[in-house]
Amino acid sequence: MLPDDQDVYSLIGEDGFHRLIAAFYRQVPGDDILGPMYPPADMQGAEDRLREFLIFRFGGPPRYLEQRGHPRLRMRHAPFPVTAAARDRWMQIMNKALEETALPAGVDTVLRTFFESTATFMINRGPLPSA
Ligand code: HEM
Repeated sequence: MLPDDQDVYSLIGEDGFHRLIAAFYRQVPGDDILGPMYPPADMQGAEDRLREFLIFRFGGPPRYLEQRGHPRLRMRHAPFPVTAAARDRWMQIMNKALEETALPAGVDTVLRTFFESTATFMINRGPLPSA
């Protein structure tokens, strides 16, 4: 049985989210598609925002909500050209970060599923994937 979304935080804690999102952002600056989209002078801020969002979304303290307000993720991504290729690359480096971080299997599955659907939902330029 897979854990409920709201139980993920208690299963992996701050440390699990911290390791995962640090592993993700280590790959961003050197990426030819994603690197240029992110703020070079505020990579730590970007890392903090994604990590705090996930902590809030998966049953942890709602610091993201307090600091950033309602996520409105599609709207916040509107300035960035999220094509299907950008989405696939984002998933590719997130999957690599998940492999590196080796979270418990159930948590890994829940997060992968969430990232897959959210990343597709974020596409805002060009043709949508057919499947
Ligand atoms: C599909 C490909 C994606 C691309 C190319 C992308 C790109 C970006 C960029 C360039 C930023 C600005 C960095 C910053 O915070 O300064 C950002 C912010 C953010 N992204 Fe994404 N993103 C993608 C998918 C996702 C997904 C799947 C999630 C959720 C799991 C997500 C969650 C966030 C959050 C929470 C922020 C910060 C929003 C804020 O409070 O301002 N993104 N993204």
